[in-house]
Amino acid sequence: MSRLTAVLVLNGPNLGMLGAREPEIYGSATLSDIAAQCTALGAELGLQIDLRQTDDEAELIGWVHEAFERRLPVVINPAAFTHYSYALRDALAMRRAPVVEVHLSNPAARESFRHTSVVSAVADGTICGFGVRSYELALRAIAAMIGPGAG
Ligand code: DQA
Repeated sequence: MSRLTAVLVLNGPNLGMLGAREPEIYGSATLSDIAAQCTALGAELGLQIDLRQTDDEAELIGWVHEAFERRLPVVINPAAFTHYSYALRDALAMRRAPVVEVHLSNPAARESFRHTSVVSAVADGTICGFGVRSYELALRAIAAMIGPGAG
């Protein structure tokens, strides 16, 4: 049996409230539901999913440093940090493995402050607007980028 490649699936502020949080925008799935779906898809793709959430910018940046040190691919929904955290952007810029930015909603179709992502330029790509499927598509992109047997 081939070894699984670890992938960090990082989530920023307020995403721990999914399910209850503005369901008309973010849907009814909780972060636990998303974790279960990512874990199941990861098993199919040969990826070991480590999904985490924090409301704390420093903790999130610490996890990005961990990804740098361990050379791990990252799927990240930076939530509101997307729009203004240069510190998070600089941490992601150090990356030594693929990084995919995800959003449940389509920020381009929402308030103007969401139209700027300070993170996008240091990610391989961004997937947004597909709800939970944004995460699934991001994992498929990671799997395609690292190729078979990368673990
Ligand atoms: C979000 C979009 C952000 O603008 C917002 O601040 C979030 C969630 C999304 O997944 O659609 O918290 O990242």
